[in-house]
Amino acid sequence: MPTCRICRGERLNTFLSFGSMPLVNNFLREEQLGTPEHRFPLDVCFCDNCGLVQLGYVVDPEIMFKNYAYLTGASEPLLAHFAALAAEITQRFDVPVGSLVVDVGSNDGTLLQSFQKLGMRVLGVEPAVNISKLAVSRGIETTNDFFSSHVAETISAELGRAKVITAANVLAHVNDPEDFLSGVTSLLDEDGIFVIEVPYLVDLLEKREFDTIYHEHLSYFALRPLMSLFAKFGLGIVRVERISVHGGSLRLYVQKSAHSISPNVSELLKLEERAKLAALETYQKFAEDVSQIKEELRSLLQSLKARGARIVGYGAPAKGNLLLNYCQIGTDILDYIIDTTPFKQGRYTPGTRVPIFPESRFHNAPTDYALLLAWNYTDAILQKEKAYRQAGGKFIVPIPKPRIV
Ligand code: TMP
Repeated sequence: MPTCRICRGERLNTFLSFGSMPLVNNFLREEQLGTPEHRFPLDVCFCDNCGLVQLGYVVDPEIMFKNYAYLTGASEPLLAHFAALAAEITQRFDVPVGSLVVDVGSNDGTLLQSFQKLGMRVLGVEPAVNISKLAVSRGIETTNDFFSSHVAETISAELGRAKVITAANVLAHVNDPEDFLSGVTSLLDEDGIFVIEVPYLVDLLEKREFDTIYHEHLSYFALRPLMSLFAKFGLGIVRVERISVHGGSLRLYVQKSAHSISPNVSELLKLEERAKLAALETYQKFAEDVSQIKEELRSLLQSLKARGARIVGYGAPAKGNLLLNYCQIGTDILDYIIDTTPFKQGRYTPGTRVPIFPESRFHNAPTDYALLLAWNYTDAILQKEKAYRQAGGKFIVPIPKPRIV
């Protein structure tokens, strides 16, 4: 019987079940098309005791993260986001030049490159072998491992304590947040700063971002469970911001001896009360809405297709694969998908097996509709594809309610 990953409570209520799903970052090579894919249960639960929303089944992290398809640097808006984050941290906390900055889940080193330009000593910790190598080839020293209390000790023994530790879009992926935070606490300097970004449950529910639920994302955090988790390690939140990245996230600035608790912490806690995050009914209603989106999206796409429309997918993010599999959208609807990540091009989407091409294919022969699977970059993509839209091309944005733009 699964127990809560934070409070160890045994009353986990499953409110949404996607059934058996393939791994959404397991993009297939042509020669793999003849072989069935591994599928794993995908059920989402609510802990009656501490309120943490989480998956009921955990896929072995070695399978999910040792060879990884996601590249931070492939999404243009994230480059500016992380450059601004590095500048913000160093300025706000007066981080002296030459300080050690450790980024956990450092991916291709995009964030650390910005810290490096600001004169910091940097180290990435990244479990994916392929992506660590890429970061190293870009001049970012990287420990190829999952971050843990053990890895933290090794780093501090070799390099000393870190003035800054960052973990952007990582904590939700961690199966043992307590060991993770114990590592952060031992590696962080006494006056150091720990900054995390984590997708925010309030945004997920409000904007019906059901496709961000997949095997890699084990926890769906709100502020309240995070505060109790940090408090166990003597960590306090000195500042919290709502940011738009990944469909809406929290950015938390955390310190060991938190002197001034951010005034907007209590505001957010009130917001979470108004959003009724502590009530199981909130999640049951969300599950009903999700099933409604599936029906609406399928009937919209089928009616367009029946009228002879040519439709492609725009972006092949992991969440797009959840959406395609759950809504059963495959090559019967989509001619192909375009994505800027070189590694995904020439491959096929897991489960639905739609071929992925570079953007040029779409630009050279635009279609009537593009299903915006990378909906978190809607503004940037609408701007980028002005010419397509001016020529009459339309986007279909699937959430919070399928609509044509
Ligand atoms: P993410 O939402 O997890 O950051 O993934 C976004 C995916 O969309 C990633 O595979 C890159 C791709 N993408 C494009 O193909 N075109 C774009 O203009 C942008 C911004 C992203």
